[in-house]
Amino acid sequence: MVYGMCTSFFILRISCFDMLLREIRYVWHLHTSASRFFCLSLRRKQTDLKMEKFSELIKIRRSMRKFTEQELSQDDVVTLLRAALMAPSSKGTHAWEFVVVDNKELLQKLSECKERGAELVAGAPLAVVVLADPSVSDVWVEDASVATTLMLLQAEDLGLGACWVQVRNRTMADGKPAEEMVRMALHIPEHLRVLSIVAVGHKGMERKPFDESRLLWEKVHFNLFETPEE
Ligand SMILES: Cc1cc2nc3c(=O)[nH]c(=O)nc-3n(C[C@H](O)[C@H](O)[C@H](O)COP(=O)(O)O)c2cc1C
Repeated sequence: MVYGMCTSFFILRISCFDMLLREIRYVWHLHTSASRFFCLSLRRKQTDLKMEKFSELIKIRRSMRKFTEQELSQDDVVTLLRAALMAPSSKGTHAWEFVVVDNKELLQKLSECKERGAELVAGAPLAVVVLADPSVSDVWVEDASVATTLMLLQAEDLGLGACWVQVRNRTMADGKPAEEMVRMALHIPEHLRVLSIVAVGHKGMERKPFDESRLLWEKVHFNLFETPEE
């Protein structure tokens, strides 16, 4: 009985402490600067809007290639990584690994990993490099792709912008594989392959939601692969 009371007392104290910490973090967020407060409330509003429906989130998500200089909060980074770590994987093998990069020099190096299409990484405050071990999963490309996709959607849900930067099967201007450049820059061991880089940051431009009039319904077939007669 005494043991039970003590346990409940400690649980109560721990949860009070936890609440207090959360409160302090929240208040700190609000008070650091007026602009931070503005951004926070704006983001809250946007996020609430987007959270109404997953179908809306999918429609609103667009590739973001321009970012503001604002750093990501630690909470946002953790939320992004949670999404990646919760990604489904073939046979539950979790063949992926993630390298979180916020060092400006490294971001610059990553932006030069291929001839075209990676420049945006230099302007992002953060990039998550998605790796996988082919000896752990024969479908590592799919595993790593799902994790990449979930991070893109999670970023949008946080009111952030993100873009998938392809590394696998891409080359630098001199024909060298983009993967090798990334491997050297981040000290990635030989047994891991590099699929993609997810560049993330606060949106630096507006993008229109997906235009549903452009949906390619003709790509969808029912039961048999037949194109409808015109
Ligand atoms: C497998 C894959 C690879 C991609 N690679 C790049 C890339 O290297 N650089 C880039 O700027 N965008 C890249 N994208 C983003 C696409 O260009 C983008 O999703 C497409 O143009 C549709 O635009 P939206 O995402 O704004 O709807 C990639 C997307 C996918 C799915």
